[in-house]
Amino acid sequence: QNAWKLADHPKFPKGKTIAMVVLDGWGEARPDQYNCIHVADTPTMDSFKTTAPERWRLIRAHGSAVGLPSEDDMGNSEVGHNALGAGRIFAQGAKLVDSALASGKIYGGEGFKYIKQSFDNGTLHLIGLLSDGGVHSRLDQLQLLLKGAAEQGAKRIRVHFLTDGRDVLDGSSVGFVETLEKDLSNLREKGVDAQIASGGGRMYVTMDRYENDWNVVKRGWDAQVLGEAPYKFRSAVEAVKKLREEPKANDQYLPPFVIVDESGNPVGPIKDGDAVVTFNFRADRMTMLAKALEYADFDKFDRVRVPKIYYAGMLEYDGELKLPSHYLVSPPEIERTSGEYLVHNGVRTFACSETVKFGHVTFFWNGNRSGCFNEEMEEYVEIPSDVGITFNVQPKMKALEIAEKARDAILSGKFDQIRVNLPNGDMVGHTGDIEATVVACKAADEAVKVQIHCFDCGRVCCHALVLMLLFLLIPFSCHLVGDNEFVVACVFPRTIIDAIEQVGGIYVITADHGNAEDMVKRDKSGEPQLDKSGNLQILTSHTLKPVPIAIGGPGLKAGARFRNDVPTGGLANVAATVMNLHGFEAPDDYEPTLIEVVDN
Ligand code: 3PG
Ligand code: CO
Repeated sequence: QNAWKLADHPKFPKGKTIAMVVLDGWGEARPDQYNCIHVADTPTMDSFKTTAPERWRLIRAHGSAVGLPSEDDMGNSEVGHNALGAGRIFAQGAKLVDSALASGKIYGGEGFKYIKQSFDNGTLHLIGLLSDGGVHSRLDQLQLLLKGAAEQGAKRIRVHFLTDGRDVLDGSSVGFVETLEKDLSNLREKGVDAQIASGGGRMYVTMDRYENDWNVVKRGWDAQVLGEAPYKFRSAVEAVKKLREEPKANDQYLPPFVIVDESGNPVGPIKDGDAVVTFNFRADRMTMLAKALEYADFDKFDRVRVPKIYYAGMLEYDGELKLPSHYLVSPPEIERTSGEYLVHNGVRTFACSETVKFGHVTFFWNGNRSGCFNEEMEEYVEIPSDVGITFNVQPKMKALEIAEKARDAILSGKFDQIRVNLPNGDMVGHTGDIEATVVACKAADEAVKVQIHCFDCGRVCCHALVLMLLFLLIPFSCHLVGDNEFVVACVFPRTIIDAIEQVGGIYVITADHGNAEDMVKRDKSGEPQLDKSGNLQILTSHTLKPVPIAIGGPGLKAGARFRNDVPTGGLANVAATVMNLHGFEAPDDYEPTLIEVVDN
């Protein structure tokens, strides 16, 4: 118990209600037409920067700041939320797999020995995301694994790939499949029967997350395990090229297909005695398949046939569930997270997002651990996401519902920390639809706080005095305001910051990585880069950009501001910062706090 006890902070008092808001995919970049955050009307986020610059700054959210192998690695939600919650930087899955492959240790591990049992009589199946995005998996790791498995005695190998277009440019799938085909043909020359067996787009086949839509996993299961799919091809390159010709087709959503032999039979259904490796290192979008492959009791869809296999994940995907039971590389041990400390120190926590980001503020935040630390002190609320759509058609997503849940939790007085993720900038940014992403950014901004616009001056009038004046004037001069929402805002708190203001609390607004702030691929000088046909290359992926962090609210100690001696601060510095705001010193090994109090 004592090991968990945090020292009192000498300056920050305890007992303040803190709203911890993560705007997913919200970075800071040059303000041009491809920066959707700049184009969108985002008065709340703008106001932090302009009205209280000593309580607004940028922090690093990519590369080494979040435990990724290199500074060329863009940030992502897994490593971003891990860093935010854990307060330290852990070498992440991508890096751990790199070193296990480089040293060869992967082949001596328990997981590899387990799958090796299939090598004499069975087939080794490799299932995962085929790209060099480095978010869920990496092509070069797959290539090394293929080579290593063959050297270790695998005689028959089948690859079931998912095309990307979300962490890499749309259309890049063809090149990745060609590269893979070359590698497999090299293996065939060495006498290994190695082939691609099936494929499909990651968002339509296999890689769902947080149990949003089991049909996605079922489509993959049918192709990978049963060898059944709506499309059959003799070659995977041909499959991807052909399926991309369909109107509106893209890499993320390609339909499932299987590769068949000359008699039309699938070349690689998964059978008894085979081994399966899911080669993604990131957990969220592999967990559902891992359950389908491993659980005897399973009722999410009809698996039809459940082969007896040797299954291993590239990593262990869930430390709490011990899923899967076998894995090739041990995951980062992210322990003593801020969430666990705070619960031990009496901080009652509420966490909320919609399904597609729910695990980000719970599972990833808590160091890849599902469930609460203490049911009595924590409540995690999931708002069901819309299923079966791409979010450019619903760019507002559930931002308002999340904000209202947070508002109610703040006003309830039952919680000390209210933590939410607003998914819009990221989920809509990934669609590459610039117009929709602009709408998404506005929706996220409004979820933080609805601002009042004056029709006459077009400016944001958010001070209580102005609000009250407008409130008095409304019956006589309705033309002054955009709509009458401000009356509601004035009397009843609508979203997060209104509620924080009402209870005298503190807000911390930040993001996990960039996305919506840059929607085009750029050359070295930062100019939009055109493809061979002269078209703009739309960036669906995350970015290398830093993200903003703002703190404020009536409960914030006077004189509190960002220190200027942590210039390279990143997401991992946020945990100590939030612990301070709760009135505690952070543990010694946490990255330093970003804040200080200057006495007047
Ligand atoms: C995804 O899984 O949607 C993307 O690959 C990464 O996005 P996220 O890191 O924002 O979840
Ligand atoms: Co994303």
